[in-house]
Amino acid sequence: AAVEKGNYRHFMQKEIFEQPTVVAQTLNSYVRQADESVALPQIDFDLTAIKRITIVACGTSFYAGMVAKYWFETFARVPVDIDVASEFRYREPVLEDGGLAIFISQSGETADTLAALRHCKENGQTIAAVVNVPTSTMAREADLLLPTHAGPEIGVASTKAFTCQLAVLAAVAAHMAVKKGKMSREEEQEVVRHLLEAPACLNAALDHDDDIAAMAPLIAPARDVLYLGRGQDYPLAMEGALKLKEISYIHAEGYASGEMKHGPIALIDEAVPVIVLAPSGPLFEKTVSNMQEVSARGGKIVLISDAEGLAEAGDGCLATIEMPKVHPLIAPLVYAVPVQLLAYHVAVVKGTDVDQPRNLAKSVTVE
Ligand code: G6P
Repeated sequence: AAVEKGNYRHFMQKEIFEQPTVVAQTLNSYVRQADESVALPQIDFDLTAIKRITIVACGTSFYAGMVAKYWFETFARVPVDIDVASEFRYREPVLEDGGLAIFISQSGETADTLAALRHCKENGQTIAAVVNVPTSTMAREADLLLPTHAGPEIGVASTKAFTCQLAVLAAVAAHMAVKKGKMSREEEQEVVRHLLEAPACLNAALDHDDDIAAMAPLIAPARDVLYLGRGQDYPLAMEGALKLKEISYIHAEGYASGEMKHGPIALIDEAVPVIVLAPSGPLFEKTVSNMQEVSARGGKIVLISDAEGLAEAGDGCLATIEMPKVHPLIAPLVYAVPVQLLAYHVAVVKGTDVDQPRNLAKSVTVE
């Protein structure tokens, strides 16, 4: 049956709001609530033997991979090499025996990612595919299919597939850590508990839709927007910038907060809004210094943080968006919501074609 927009104005908006449901649905097949354990689909290779992981993807799926790199390295202590698919093959990557290559793709058909998958297969890697279309080419060619259960995604700019990819990758990283003896049973239970908190936290983030709609007119006139984030929120800054570019046609860049002083700071003036993604926590103070560097140059900040972070650094910002206080593991899922909604509402203000942005395709099947 054809997918309908229902009461939503755009598919993208509908898909943003579906996230609590589809993330819960996805987690259902990767964690067991009863004993708070991670449970993966049947794996017929030895996960403990994996010495190295290669992650390859494009676009939004690539940013999910960047977040996953943090998880595989911190949980399972397995080194991760990650690249965009169009660059990967042509740099003659070193692919040693015993490597696991993970391909992330909503469609399962992106030509560059598929070509990289085949290259890894020819070079002795075990192939895992995190895909949303279970009948896709990547799903068929993988040794291990890791489906996201986001349902059909119609909006060209990916939203719900991204948060479902994150849910799957977090579970896989935890599973590998358990198998490798790097994560205790208690830690596994803790990870599962936090993952299961994600749907409610996504709902809490969605509750700020009206605030975000109200501030969108402040961003819509900008020519350039800078997004800053640290640690696992750095890929989210890039995802935020990508979303804004894709649907509102405003030039945006995502940068690691600490790297701003090595370049982008030269761009800052009253006309360049700076969107800061910064949950409170150990790295928050450092981000506050970066915000001060922006303010000192007349830059206008939109701070996305929890109540604690906003209390500490919200004064003097152009706008703030309050997120629930969440465990760092699920922060990338939760902070995806405000950047998606911000791009969405800015595009609506500008009157662009949200679901079918110019020059872009839902699935890019040419290299
Ligand atoms: C296109 C879409 C993006 C998507 C990217 C990767 O550029 O417009 O939204 O992130 O392809 O697609 P995939 O299906 O491989 O995740």
